[in-house]
Amino acid sequence: MTRALVLGGAGFIGLHLVRRLTAEHHHVTVVDDFSRGRDDAELASVCVDPAVEVVTGDLTRGGTWAALPRDWDQIYLLAAVVGVRNVEADPARVIRVNSLAALHLMDWISSAGTVFFSSTSEVYAGAVDAGIATVPTAENVPAMVSDVAAPRFAYAISKLLGESAVLHGARAAGGHAVVGRFHNVYGPRMGVDHVVPEMSLRAMRGENPFRVPGADQFRAFCHVDDAVEAVVRLMASPDAAGEIVHIGNDAEQTNIADLAKLILRIAGAGAVIAPAPAPPGSVHRRCPDLSKLRRLTGYEPKVTLDDGVGQTFAWYRDHHRHDT
Ligand SMILES: NC(=O)c1ccc[n+]([C@@H]2O[C@H](COP(=O)([O-])OP(=O)(O)OC[C@H]3O[C@@H](n4cnc5c(N)ncnc54)[C@H](O)[C@@H]3O)[C@@H](O)[C@H]2O)c1
Repeated sequence: MTRALVLGGAGFIGLHLVRRLTAEHHHVTVVDDFSRGRDDAELASVCVDPAVEVVTGDLTRGGTWAALPRDWDQIYLLAAVVGVRNVEADPARVIRVNSLAALHLMDWISSAGTVFFSSTSEVYAGAVDAGIATVPTAENVPAMVSDVAAPRFAYAISKLLGESAVLHGARAAGGHAVVGRFHNVYGPRMGVDHVVPEMSLRAMRGENPFRVPGADQFRAFCHVDDAVEAVVRLMASPDAAGEIVHIGNDAEQTNIADLAKLILRIAGAGAVIAPAPAPPGSVHRRCPDLSKLRRLTGYEPKVTLDDGVGQTFAWYRDHHRHDT
């Protein structure tokens, strides 16, 4: 049985990944400090499987790492402080947690096992802003930070350090690592800050007029099942070792006002769209170039926006009734 370590496995992408790994009969150990991940019924339902173990631990502390066995087949580092609200509120915490987790992993990596490091499209957002990178965007555009002092870039800076630390650390230890840069992953159990659940909950409350920040912007949303499929395929591809690979869904570049209309339609609400300014610093358009991911893994995104948003809306309707 393959042994997998999922660091940050109680979070959004983490728990979906754990479900997938256990369905494929991996033995999975989750480490999480529950700063954002939840000890909820969904985690409990996964833990019913005796092949899943959950360890509560803070990955910024050396002691947490020292207590972990090192003989894993697969190691996934998903733990991080994420979300625009967290990044704006406490950029120092973002730098501290994300960098320390990656640096401890770098020191701890052995030649055994393949490491997956979760990075983000934000690492090249400055290059898109500056007109240096085209959209859809490939991995070989320059990573760029427009303003080191701006809180928003703390996240990108921490993830760039992580990419470099994990790739070089694995190589130095004689092991393998792959970096996946997620692009706008959404789905059930992702918290309430992201645009899909946030708009869904407002639509359920019957907001009218319906405020749509960044209504003229475009994103390519990727359902979490597709993102997990890409991660699993990358970990199974020997050619992906040492590579940085964009993960997302390039099938539908969606205008945010159209996303709002879709959500209102699913909610059965006839509200009027009220465009509002975009959150400061967010790029006008984002879409990954997935040529490299396709070449390495044969991946194709499967979940349409209509299906994925419908399924996500239904999950929030069932789990957040008290918010409506
Ligand atoms: N969701 C997306 O669209 C997206 C986009 C780009 C990158 N990513 C990256 O993917 C990864 C997973 O993102 P997510 O959306 O599932 O976020 P999430 O917040 O749901 O999951 C992160 C998990 O890490 C845990 N964690 C945080 N600090 C920790 C610490 N010090 N010790 C142990 N655990 C800790 C949290 O409790 C949480 O369970 C992150 O690294 C994120 O930067 C996600």
